[in-house]
Amino acid sequence: MTAPGLFRRVRARPGPAIPFSIDGAPAEARAGDLLIGAILLHRRALRRFEFGPGERAGFCLMGACQDCWVDLADGRRLRACTTLVEPGMAVVTGGAGA
Ligand code: FES
Repeated sequence: MTAPGLFRRVRARPGPAIPFSIDGAPAEARAGDLLIGAILLHRRALRRFEFGPGERAGFCLMGACQDCWVDLADGRRLRACTTLVEPGMAVVTGGAGA
């Protein structure tokens, strides 16, 4: 079976499920997952590129490149590779990576 996202888990992560949403669609992560992983397990990109065609999916995965900023429905803008997923987060991708 092919994973629907860009990332896939290589090993099951123990811990409680964390419900969140991506563009209104229900999604699930595990406690301790970073937001970038939680999104990219479900999607192929984090957001649309602001300065041209295409999509962005992060690059460095360690808080340096600034390529992983994502918007939440509550108005927050977060760096996904340094933010833990929280229950109820509502990620808005602008149509990226569906
Ligand atoms: S992926 Fe580079 S800062 Fe997040």
